[in-house]
Amino acid sequence: MDIGELAAHDFEQIQILRDDAAGMLAFVAVHDTRLGPAFGGIRRWRYRHPGAALADALRLAEAMTLKCAAAGIPGGGAKVVLVDAPSLDRGAAYRRIGDFVEQMNGRYFTGPDVGTETQDLEEVARRTSFVARPDEIGNLAEPTAVGVFAGLRAVGDRLGCDGVRGLHVLVQGLGAVGRRLAQLLVGAGARVTVCDLDRDLVEQVRTELGVEVVEPGLLLSITADVWAPCALGGVVHDLSLEHLKVRAIAGAANNVLAAPAHGAALFQRGILYAPDFVMNAGALIHGALNHLEGAPPEPARIEAIGARVGSILDASIAEGIAPELVAQRLARDELDKRPREPYFPARPR
Ligand code: NAI
Repeated sequence: MDIGELAAHDFEQIQILRDDAAGMLAFVAVHDTRLGPAFGGIRRWRYRHPGAALADALRLAEAMTLKCAAAGIPGGGAKVVLVDAPSLDRGAAYRRIGDFVEQMNGRYFTGPDVGTETQDLEEVARRTSFVARPDEIGNLAEPTAVGVFAGLRAVGDRLGCDGVRGLHVLVQGLGAVGRRLAQLLVGAGARVTVCDLDRDLVEQVRTELGVEVVEPGLLLSITADVWAPCALGGVVHDLSLEHLKVRAIAGAANNVLAAPAHGAALFQRGILYAPDFVMNAGALIHGALNHLEGAPPEPARIEAIGARVGSILDASIAEGIAPELVAQRLARDELDKRPREPYFPARPR
């Protein structure tokens, strides 16, 4: 993203956190808080260069704004990206992030993301209470899986099935979300084929659930109803598009489309695409509402993802535009209802 694009994307705050003694470089992006405090986890990852880490923080923070707005959460989007390196003093780095979050005084509530584990969140929690701690909030993969499952039922209905009953779903990735999703699907009568790079994990899930298995490299050679990406993002690209033998794509992974044009390409080919930031909002809904309302949300708040996905797919067909664009419009309409004023919590006197 160059400077011109940055201005067009309207970020409220971009900050560098640096501590040479700890080998630490992190980028904070706060995108848009007009609906309420910013939510977004801490990602720790290795990058080719610092610019790539900053670009990731920007992209992820903006996606969190859209995710909040589309899910009806009175909050906005932010992200911390911590550049991983062999010399990183991990504990010191997470404590420094905790100090930063504390200084934000409630303008930003953080939590887990790729590369951030329970012990890291404990370090953050030593410095601030504005963090989702697994021991307090539970495993956020559970509401994510429940939300994805609700979305898949809506997709199944649109493919002429009775929800997921009899639907053939390829679950790619059997981590915290994918494994739970596979359990829910099998329990509801879906036909499930799974894959993961971890062969032991695949074997465990095959034994536990009696599902079919495919080698990761052969996933796209399978003819199925739905591909549920629950591993990495960027999986719908020029090459994979050519090989697709599924009728729909709907999963948990963030940024499933390598580029916006791939959403349009799926639409032209008649492959239903359930936008990722709507499908995988379960963790955000659970974590944000728990923070804002002081108690975990009613299950119906997560289940509502199904109705939302359904109405986006229906509007996409009715209007002849890709579902990703419908979902972005839904989010931007919510944002446009409020004046562009950043959220700053009232300071206690
Ligand atoms: P995880 O790290 O627990 O599991 C990912 C799994 O994917 C691992 O078992 C890994 O071996 C496997 N994998 C990696 N590359 C693969 C490949 N090429 N083919 C097959 N398997 C592969 O991650 P988690 O928490 O289950 O999240 C899954 C996805 O959902 C991620 O993209 C994450 O960003 C997204 N997500 C997760 C949320 C959560 O609450 N955990 C919330 C929102 C999004």
